Amino acid sequence: MSYNNDLNRRHFLKMFAFATASSQLGSWAWTNSVLGDIQANGSPATGLFRMNLSDFPALQTDNGSVRLKVTGMSATFPEIIVTRSAGSVFHAVSSYCTHMGCTVNTFNASLGVLPCPCHGSQFKVDGSVVRGPATEPLARYATQFDGASLLAIEIPGLGYSIKSSVAQPAGGASRLSLSFPTVTGLNYEVRFKTTFGATDWSPVMFSPTLDGQVNVPSLVGDGAEATVYLERTGTSGFYAVIRY
Ligand code: FES
Repeated sequence: MSYNNDLNRRHFLKMFAFATASSQLGSWAWTNSVLGDIQANGSPATGLFRMNLSDFPALQTDNGSVRLKVTGMSATFPEIIVTRSAGSVFHAVSSYCTHMGCTVNTFNASLGVLPCPCHGSQFKVDGSVVRGPATEPLARYATQFDGASLLAIEIPGLGYSIKSSVAQPAGGASRLSLSFPTVTGLNYEVRFKTTFGATDWSPVMFSPTLDGQVNVPSLVGDGAEATVYLERTGTSGFYAVIRY
């Protein structure tokens, strides 16, 4: 695990985040909450990848289609294809061809399919097979559109869970301990806001050890579980661990 000592301003829209919250510090009733682009969604193994369509001009018209790399998906195949159909219906599928694993192209409007460049398989925008040699559909991901500009895509394996407890350093005030799995190379930061409805999340410094100085703004994952220790900032509030 490595720790960064510089806290830069970062663009939340590009972050991958998971939030965990407590309505009352001291009585740890943790629930999943919303922050940034990715959040837990019921199962800790499923995450929401949230897109603002204003960032993707191709998705502002029917038949628009984009291929995206999603940080936190399987390192061996982290890409999805998102396509907009008539009536603001959005489809999200893996671009991993079920024939032999080539990367399927975005929607070809003249052919009306997602074509695979390797051996000619074709798929509908929902991933079903139009033409082989592939016989199995592309993996599909459920989408939710808010009717305006936000699209959320449920992706299994993207979420992660956070364990929390109160830790007591020798001779000092109690601290909040947060433990969470990390992905090698991704960055992790802690955020806090006082109420669920508050829009601004404040960066929170932490210590990587129970007794250490609380002055570290972020860490880089190494694939192992990380534990960080925070000073408790008030009587109530919400914490989030974000990754990007
Ligand atoms: S890998 Fe896609 S058609 Fe063969």
